[in-house]
Order: sequence, then structure tokens, then C-alpha cells
Amino acid sequence: MFRRKQPHSHTQLSHRQINRLLPFTNAPLFHALQLLATGDSARFHMPGHKGEPLFNSYAEVFAIDFTETYGTGNLYLGDGPIRDAEVAAARYFGASDCFFLTGGSTQGILSVLATAVGRGGAVLLDRECHKSVCHACALLDITPYFFSAPVLEPFGISGALAPADAERQLIDHPEIRAVLLTSPTYYGVRRAIPAFADLCRAYGKQLLVDAAHGAHFPAVGLPTPVAEGADMAVLSIHKTLPCLGQGAVVLSAKGVDKHALRENTALFGTSSPSYPIMASIDLARAYTEGPGRAAYRRAAETCGELREYVLRRTGFTPLTMEDFPALDPCRLTVCTAGTDVTGHQLADMLWSECGVACEMADDRNVVFILTCADPATAVHRLRRGLRRISRRRSEEVLPPAAEPFPPAERVLSVRDAWFSKTGRVQPAAAEGLVCARPVTPYPPGVPLLWPGEKITRAHIELIRKRWYNEIGEITVVIG
Ligand SMILES: Cc1ncc(COP(=O)(O)O)c(C=O)c1O
Repeated sequence: MFRRKQPHSHTQLSHRQINRLLPFTNAPLFHALQLLATGDSARFHMPGHKGEPLFNSYAEVFAIDFTETYGTGNLYLGDGPIRDAEVAAARYFGASDCFFLTGGSTQGILSVLATAVGRGGAVLLDRECHKSVCHACALLDITPYFFSAPVLEPFGISGALAPADAERQLIDHPEIRAVLLTSPTYYGVRRAIPAFADLCRAYGKQLLVDAAHGAHFPAVGLPTPVAEGADMAVLSIHKTLPCLGQGAVVLSAKGVDKHALRENTALFGTSSPSYPIMASIDLARAYTEGPGRAAYRRAAETCGELREYVLRRTGFTPLTMEDFPALDPCRLTVCTAGTDVTGHQLADMLWSECGVACEMADDRNVVFILTCADPATAVHRLRRGLRRISRRRSEEVLPPAAEPFPPAERVLSVRDAWFSKTGRVQPAAAEGLVCARPVTPYPPGVPLLWPGEKITRAHIELIRKRWYNEIGEITVVIG
């Protein structure tokens, strides 16, 4: 993909110049990344380009690193070639409009909540939402209400969200202005967007969707949330499409105040948006609309074959459409429940023994992202690694059903808790105290407890049981 002949340009560094830059041992980050990039590993994590060059060379990234000047366009004014690229993306994603973001979906989530809910409003959230939603509530003094899905066993992850549960909250809290859902989730579970869109329309609320993990959906024949009836959706182009890190878009449907939305993207974005990132959003869309479509269809087929392989040839359990019919076809979730290893241990073994890097692991699952950029050798290595590790595993009884995280009582607003005087305590000493920051295993970055919520013994016990080596200290309100 995107491999092209080196263009001639006086701005381009020669190979000699680049080689001279590489041995700089006092640039530890650059060196660490170089080592990983040139090493022998299989990447099943974001960004979706998996190290395949989007641009012709390192030098080309610098060559197109422009600013707002003649012929480049201005992101926040919505003009020039940036606007043309946004219009092309809106058409491709089935939206009325599209705005580019260089601060990831995080910038998009802040922007859509500012637009649809505003300062001091209320929002209904699925409890699986990403911590950036919590940050938006702190910044904008938004009151969150929650509803949850039942746990899907043996994975211990959230399953189908019921519109009826959302409806009860909309009736109880008429001040709610918008509903925000995460679809697909980190594990690849898709939500019933059309049913939630109908519900929101019936109650006069806006439907917002965090589709950070779903930018590849059109390439595999699935609609984006806006094409299914949501008012706004946020997509991390960098997570699943071949785009530079931080490239994202916000999509809007007819009826959304586009000026306010654009202004809010500026409120939460840098005033120097990166042109290489914006260009890579544009390239990723153009590629996926063209030859990339077939590559994504193949990635989905490969993912289906891997699920089948894990099911038939290993002791692990893949998340399949038998478990949950609406899955992201390019997300492989492998569950270790019923074996003698945790998801974290399997992920570490895959890396140390086979050079396979997953996207993330929790106590029961390992998650892999498949995209257009996975070579057959990487897929083979993943398959062989899972089989080899599985052969050494002994079978164990399935663990008891994962306990849902107990509901929490809100005693302070998210904003007041966040901006209060804070201290840090061990979980064991946190009973009765109030969270000042989200308590968040990362990844997936889904808060267990939100700022302003009171910590109980039941919370501490479950944190100790399931997240003991991920959550060291909790930041609490002390005055
Ligand atoms: C569900 C979800 N939403 C939003 C985000 C934030 O996306 P970004 O990293 O593009 O800012 C993430 C990041 O992992 C995520 O998993």
C-alpha cells in the first residue's frame, strides 16, 4: 500500500542525511521506537497502518508538514483542500458533514458533548464509556447518568445494551439532553444504533456515538453510526485505518449545528493542527475507498478464520457471532477463562516467546486488531503462537461468572470532585472516600469509578480481586 517512488524535491533529506540522524543515542524515545520498528515482531495493535509507510519516507512527512499558508487551507475556517478532504470523507462515511481532528477521538468526544449537552447539562451514558467522556464531564460540568449491559460469559465483558433500560433513565431524568453510546466496544461488540436512534427521536434527545474503534466499518460493508440514525459520531481513523496516530473525525447528521460543532473542535484542539496527520486521514479514506476495500474484506475473512482456528485448535475461547451476533468483523478477542493463564499472561507469553504484540489484555481476554496491513507471516505467527502456548496449558474449571462492578453513589459533581483538593491512597484505605479521578484500568480506559462517586467495601474487594496489579493508588477528595 502507499509505497511510491521517491518524489524529487529540494526539501527532501537524502538517505545519507537520514542515516546520519539515526545513531543519535541521546534521543531515547526515537531509538526505542526505531528498535521496535526494525525488530522482528507482528503488530496486532493500533495504529491501523501497522508500520507500513503511509508516506513514501520519513523525509516526506517533514516535507508536507505545513502550516496555514498559501494553498494549504485552514482547518478551523473549514476552507481549501482540508475542506475538500472533509467533504470527501463525509460522503464516504455516509454523513451530512465531517470535521477532521488531530487530537484523536478524545478531541471529538469533548466537542460533541460540548455541542449536544453544553455546560452544566446532563447526559445518559453506557457505563462502558471511555475516560475521555469523564474528562468532558469534568471540563463542562456535565452530570452523567448511566445504564449498563449484562455481562457476557465467559468473557466477563459487557453484552447487549437494552433501549428499555435507557428509556427508564430518560423518563426519570428529563433533564438529560443526549445519550452517548460506545459502539463498537474495545472487544468488538456493536450496539443496536437504529433502535437507540428511534428512542432518542421519540424523547427529543440527541444520539452521540463513540465509534473510535469503528472507522473501518464501511470497508467491511457496515454502516457508520450516523448512517444508522445517530446525530453525531466520533471515529479514530488512526485506530483501525492506515492513518498516523491522533488522526480522527467527527461526523454529523442533518440538523446538527455545524458551526457550533466546528467551533467546539477548535475549543479542544491545538491551533497548529498537524498537516501530516490531516493528510493521512485523507489518504486513509482515499485508500480504503479504493484498493483498501478488498484488503479490509480479506482482514475480516482472516479474523473469521482465526476465530475458527482458536475454537478448534486451541484451549482458548474466541468471541464469535454465536456468543454475540453483532461483532466487529476485524476484532479478535481470545478468552483464557477455563485455562491456567490470565489474559495478561497469555499476552506476555505471545510477546516474549513469539514477538506477537496484542492491542490489549485484561484478566480474561486478549484483544487483537486486524487491518489491511497485516502480512500473512504475522497472522501465521499469531496462529502458531496461540497453538503452541495452548498446548502447554492445563484445563481448569471455568471461573464463576464475572461480578458486575457494583453501582456507585454520586456525592459530588464530576467537576467539583476533579477540581477539589486531592490525595492518593491505597485501595485498601479508600473505603468511604470520594473519587477525585476516574479509577481506570488502562487499556481499555473504561472507568470503574467516576470522580464524585463514593468508594465502598464492595468496590475495593472487586478491585483487589480483578485489577490488583493494575490499580495501585486511587486519587480521592481530601477537602
Ligand atoms: C472507546 C474509546 N473511545 C475513545 C478513545 C479515545 O480515542 P483517541 O485515542 O483517538 O483519542 C479510546 C481510546 O482508546 C477508546 O477506546
